[in-house]
Amino acid sequence: MGRLAAPRSPTLGWAGVTDLRASTTALYRAKADALVLAVAPGPRLLGADDLPRPLRSTLSPEGLKALGVSGKADEVVRIPTAEGGLRAAVVVLTGTGRLTGDLPSAEQLRRAAGAATRTLAGLGSAALALPADDVESAAAVAEGALLGAYAYRAQRGRTAADAKAPVAELELLTPLARDKTLAARLERAAVLADAVSTVRDLVNAPPNELYPETFVQAARDAAKGTKVKITVLDEKALAAGGYGGILGVGQGSERPPRLVRVEHAPSKPKAHLALVGKGITFDSGGLSLKPPTGMVTMKCDMAGAATVLAAVVAAARLDLPVRVTGWLALAENMPSGTAQRPSDVLTTYGGRTVEVLNTDAEGRLVMADAIVAAGEEQPDAIVDVATLTGAQVVALGSRVSAVMGDDALRAAVLAAAERAGEQFWPMPLPEELRASLDSPIADIANIGDRNGGMLVAGLFLREFVPNGADGTRLPWAHLDIAGPAFNEQGPHGYTGKGGTGHALRTLLALAEDLG
Ligand code: BES
Ligand code: MN
Ligand code: ZN
Repeated sequence: MGRLAAPRSPTLGWAGVTDLRASTTALYRAKADALVLAVAPGPRLLGADDLPRPLRSTLSPEGLKALGVSGKADEVVRIPTAEGGLRAAVVVLTGTGRLTGDLPSAEQLRRAAGAATRTLAGLGSAALALPADDVESAAAVAEGALLGAYAYRAQRGRTAADAKAPVAELELLTPLARDKTLAARLERAAVLADAVSTVRDLVNAPPNELYPETFVQAARDAAKGTKVKITVLDEKALAAGGYGGILGVGQGSERPPRLVRVEHAPSKPKAHLALVGKGITFDSGGLSLKPPTGMVTMKCDMAGAATVLAAVVAAARLDLPVRVTGWLALAENMPSGTAQRPSDVLTTYGGRTVEVLNTDAEGRLVMADAIVAAGEEQPDAIVDVATLTGAQVVALGSRVSAVMGDDALRAAVLAAAERAGEQFWPMPLPEELRASLDSPIADIANIGDRNGGMLVAGLFLREFVPNGADGTRLPWAHLDIAGPAFNEQGPHGYTGKGGTGHALRTLLALAEDLG
């Protein structure tokens, strides 16, 4: 067997290169390469009351119509401003989509701002004059603009020069520029966007570079400059501790698995939230090999772990008064002479045995170990996040994630998602499906009824959630992000192709709510 080169940090992207500041500058005085304005269907230019005279007719409803601008979502049109009385050389018109009231919703603003900044890669600066007269709207514009200003640092070898960096500087034009609450919200927006970019970078990194050992290195890099504590269990420690789920999945790969614990521990925490992330750096299916078409996107199968890592780091950066422990269950699922076989029985951390009938249902095996480990510390809540099932994509498509688990925590996740601007939908855990996971020779099998596969996977995970001091199961929720974690279609709003960072904002909002 070939020896692998010593692990090094994976090639990552442009995270954190865009700076954003707010100012009360009038839009005609804004010194930037581009000026971004919002258009609602009508078409109707929003805000921008102090437009210089030469541009007023160009950007009037008739003028916009003549330009073919409709204001629909994801419509971004650039027009030159020669002689228009602006310092910026171009105006970028970005559509909000149909409004329900007078003004766009926070999420409409995020998407419109992000759709615009996505197209600004390679530029030095842009001024944002979307409607931002209240803190909520201004913060939304900032978030969306920073989320859209992301590009993965593509590895183009000799042609590296054409790889464009995201726009370097953003100036948010708002009368609230000196508002203290806005300052805090902008700081948060920057931390949030950095965290989302980290997730996207890790998901986009090719799996020959990002595997368990290098993921650990990336975790250390991401936590630099914070007080986040990182503890790593390598394959020897995993064997000594009896982590049979992670070891079973990882044993087919030359790249050994890891379980990583990352912790944000403030001095007087108001609550303790445990986050558990699926970190399959590549999911070939193992001996239950995937067909080639289903395999190509499977570098995204570590999105849950990347999300958990970035959420803990963000919680530390924002100094949230909540203890957050993150658990990254890292393994590469490969077929080989040492791979686990369909029908193997493994013993998970804590002693429960699993009959592995399908090695492609590997996520639940690594998650089982990590959920038990997370629960040992008796947190107030456990939230796990995983690209767990193809059935999730069948049920909800590629933009809406599923949340299962205890009613109260599930509702809390939905409320956090709503506030964050991410789409989640509640799913049940029907008791009658549980019996399909019964095994004649082990405590449980890793596959059950094919119908309702997402729910069956959730029921499997539920078996591993430990009890609290009161003898009942710890509060637990399970997020299946299989579809939304990776955008295989065209870019939209603040989301480009590839890794999306979906669920990060929800987890951060949930941690804030617990504080
Ligand atoms: N990583 C996949 C799930 C997945 C599918 C994620 C599509 C993202 C996009 C998971 O490990 C898997 O293979 N699940 C199987 C389970 C089955 C064997 C019970 C599936 O969904 O087909
Ligand atoms: Mn799989
Ligand atoms: Zn998987």
